[in-house]
Amino acid sequence: MNHSERVTVLVGVTGGIAAYKSCELVRALIKRGYRVKVVMTEAATEFVTPLTFRTLTNEPVAVSLWEDDPSAPVHHISLADEADVCVIAPCTANVIAKIAHGRADDLLTTSVLATEAPIVIAPAMNVHMWRDEVTQSNVAALHARGVVFVEPAAGELACGDIGEGRLAPVEEIAAAVTVEAERARDLAGRTVLVTAGGTQEPIDPVRYIGNRSSGKTGFAIAAEAARRGARVTLVTGPTHLADPFEVEVVRIQTALEMHAAVMARVGEADAVVASAAVADFRPAETVSGKIKKDSIPEAITLVRNPDILAELGERDLGGVRIGFAAETSEVERHAREKLEAKRCHMVVANDVSDPALGFGTEANSVLFVTRAGVESSGVLLKRTIAREICDRLSRLLAGGHTA
Ligand code: C5P
Repeated sequence: MNHSERVTVLVGVTGGIAAYKSCELVRALIKRGYRVKVVMTEAATEFVTPLTFRTLTNEPVAVSLWEDDPSAPVHHISLADEADVCVIAPCTANVIAKIAHGRADDLLTTSVLATEAPIVIAPAMNVHMWRDEVTQSNVAALHARGVVFVEPAAGELACGDIGEGRLAPVEEIAAAVTVEAERARDLAGRTVLVTAGGTQEPIDPVRYIGNRSSGKTGFAIAAEAARRGARVTLVTGPTHLADPFEVEVVRIQTALEMHAAVMARVGEADAVVASAAVADFRPAETVSGKIKKDSIPEAITLVRNPDILAELGERDLGGVRIGFAAETSEVERHAREKLEAKRCHMVVANDVSDPALGFGTEANSVLFVTRAGVESSGVLLKRTIAREICDRLSRLLAGGHTA
């Protein structure tokens, strides 16, 4: 992420006849106040010269991974880091396929793979290539991963065919870049507290009562909020996930520890996102030595854990409060009840009865329930759901909030 005052847009140009329209796009982006850096594929240079873009942007134009000049500031990692938004226009079927499959065999695809910035793709190709099933499945895969597509327009194509495949109008592409640029920093200056994972409630030193939460959604929310400029603290139960970049991570085991960690930090928070699956009950006592096979306890007495989110609601702590609801039936009704009972500003609800979605999986489909209404996310990767949650969090923060 580029921390300079001006938003940096990395424009990728690939080898299609519409490459000449990228010149107009670059001008439109500069007019919108962005710093623009161009990366071209070899094929793109057959249509437009790097000199054209260099003159328009007043920046070096990168084509090759193997730059001759060691002082040239064109390096795939630095380009990837500098970008606040990455837009590829026109994008060929070939480059869409490469990105969808994680290939990185030239400077553009390497930069795209290395960047954490949002990616906008404006495809341009022959109508049959666009409609081909393999192209459409690559587009769908990238869409689920959060890539924004500016759909090609219909009309007469360079090859003489008629149909969709023309590069979308330049202003439409520039507008999509602006949406992403605004989103890229919309949580700057905010402090966000995220809870994640499941808690473990010890029975004895080796056994515990736990649940199936993987922590993926909460980690993805923490990472996304940090990328968008927030100061983020993540309080998490045990998970195998690595600490997200630029996030303060507090690892706890039990609900009581999570409660203490949250209460100690919530004073500074502008928002709390409670995605943790906090155990509702814990064994009344933890047996001090390992319970032997031949002395099975007849029963384990359980006592109630504090409801962290409900307590935040009751005491009106934590600013904007977003809760989660994992349900197996009547998802929306339960979510609405939780919204009121826990005095949240939004509840993210999902149906955990479908084994393909939710716990431990990469994808999910959720309902965003607020007092203003209900929206469905459709099936998305958890990372993309995290982005949708941060979009709504940002709007709730911007709009002021009343529980
Ligand atoms: O009541 P239920 O457990 O279904 O509510 C789920 C929401 O409440 C989640 O946001 C979860 O993180 C939060 N919660 C909590 N403390 C608990 C139980 C749930 O913060 N003890």
